[in-house]
Amino acid sequence: MSVRPRRSVLYVPGSNARALEKARELPADAVILDLEDAVAPDAKAQARALIVKALQDGGFGRREVLVRINGLDTGWWIDDLVVAAAGPDALLVPKVSTPDHVRRVAKHLVGVRAEARIRVWAMMETPLAMLNARDIAAAALDLATRLAGFVMGTNDLAKETRAQIVPGRAPMLPWLMNCVAAARAHGLDILDGVYNDLGNAEGFAAECRQARDLGFDGKTLIHPQQIAPCNEAFSPTPEEVAWARKIIAAFDLPENADKGVFRIDGRMVERLHADMARRTVAIADAIAATAQPA
Ligand code: COA
Ligand code: MG
Repeated sequence: MSVRPRRSVLYVPGSNARALEKARELPADAVILDLEDAVAPDAKAQARALIVKALQDGGFGRREVLVRINGLDTGWWIDDLVVAAAGPDALLVPKVSTPDHVRRVAKHLVGVRAEARIRVWAMMETPLAMLNARDIAAAALDLATRLAGFVMGTNDLAKETRAQIVPGRAPMLPWLMNCVAAARAHGLDILDGVYNDLGNAEGFAAECRQARDLGFDGKTLIHPQQIAPCNEAFSPTPEEVAWARKIIAAFDLPENADKGVFRIDGRMVERLHADMARRTVAIADAIAATAQPA
């Protein structure tokens, strides 16, 4: 089983040369080079050029590199597609609200002859997207859409719905879980939204733990200081890995070959737990590999 860790995914403003440079050294699993909200309207063209150059120069090592283009309701997004020729791993499309949005991007990517390996991720951040999450995720059934994942846009959701962002996020939990279910139903990865209060380390750590419990693969981040605590929250603990190995080993024993369920250390384990355990070990191994020099 091979899995790619996407614990920490840092937004990097595309107009900020210093931040683009820094992104190559930070311990994030992935970076999102941004052309949308982090870039002022007058700086869009300059940011496009900086991102193309950053992609051409490379140096991102094992980090996955996404580029967030502008929304389909703007006059910028078609021009933004020039970045595809510079070979990012994926494009992140803001404010996807219907499966048709995903299909439109896919069609234009064929037009600019984007390499087949380039994936598409959708930002889930409009009220309509919350209602259409299932259909948007189902767009991935058509491989031509390249759809590989969802990124929650919780700030836009708060703006558009008038729901408040509060500790524990009770107002948003139905939407978050709806998107997790839609993503999993179609084999997509899903990343949580950002945490704005850079001065509140405790609140941030709690939200990372919550995101992990909700089933997210990782969290999007706005500042380098958020990377280490986020990586920690989304990494299986040594205890979890040890328990996973114990379950796998128990099912591998000849005397358990035809058993579907038994007890280990007082707990019931079934074959589905062995499947989960294999995933935990695969993630832990992949994380250990990222700790090696790229
Ligand atoms: N990516 C890469 N590097 C970053 C960074 C980011 N998102 N945010 C900060 N840095 C770097 C700075 O360049 C600085 O580097 P240096 O000291 O080595 O020169 C260092 O980290 C410290 O930055 P700091 O002074 O604490 O940040 P700031 O107060 O100037 O900026 C923000 C704070 C929030 C404006 C900035 O972190 C940022 O732009 N974040 C991304 C916002 C974004 O992309 N939003 C859209 C998606 S929600
Ligand atoms: Mg947004």
